Amino acid sequence: MSDTVNRFNSDSDRVEIEGFFTAHIDDENRFPLHARATDPLKGYPSFILAIGDGNELVGALHAGAAAEQIAAYVRHGLPSWAVEQGIKDHAMLYSLAVRPDRRHTGIARELVAELLNHLSSYRFQTLYGVTGPESAGFYHSGGFTVLPPGKAIQLDFGKAQVNIPLVGEDSWFYKNLPF
Ligand SMILES: CC(C)(COP(=O)(O)OP(=O)(O)OC[C@H]1O[C@@H](n2cnc3c(N)ncnc32)[C@H](O)[C@@H]1OP(=O)(O)O)[C@@H](O)C(=O)NCCC(=O)NCCS
Repeated sequence: MSDTVNRFNSDSDRVEIEGFFTAHIDDENRFPLHARATDPLKGYPSFILAIGDGNELVGALHAGAAAEQIAAYVRHGLPSWAVEQGIKDHAMLYSLAVRPDRRHTGIARELVAELLNHLSSYRFQTLYGVTGPESAGFYHSGGFTVLPPGKAIQLDFGKAQVNIPLVGEDSWFYKNLPF
């Protein structure tokens, strides 16, 4: 496939891409795209990537440093000294969607490949996220480890390791990055 992946950041693009995610992702706990001024990821690396066809979006992805999540893992036993380095090491894939009529043509694979290029320049060690059962096969086929539904993920923070639980039918997925 030959569509081009572009990176976006303006507030108007954020509104359009968040609307695309809302229309195509059924997950009320999804971490949404915020306006730039109020973005919890402000000051951290984050990536809004999309593929368009004319003026229409056909696929989009939002990922970035897992800043809010890692800070919250202190309540799961993460030592506070490990938070800053943990945020540098761990990127989260927050949202990924492809328009239904363009699925299975490699668009999501292309978005994730471009994300990995960006993550390499920041030397992230791990990319992880949560998937429902209907999309787990996409991550599995892309070389991610997909944990059984509801199984806690174990994240490494130097000498510290933390297990992060998940309830329901969703699964953690992760990939250790070779950078
Ligand atoms: C999951 C999703 C992003 C995949 O997008 P896509 O562009 O169709 O994926 P690709 O074409 O790049 O797929 C690459 C490979 O992943 C696998 N794959 C893709 N979707 C799959 C699915 N739903 N189940 C199982 N395997 C899947 C296939 O092996 C595919 O290769 P193939 O088509 O050559 O067999 C898309 O189905 C979608 O938008 N779903 C709704 C939103 C969602 O669930 N997002 C993920 C959680 S935020």
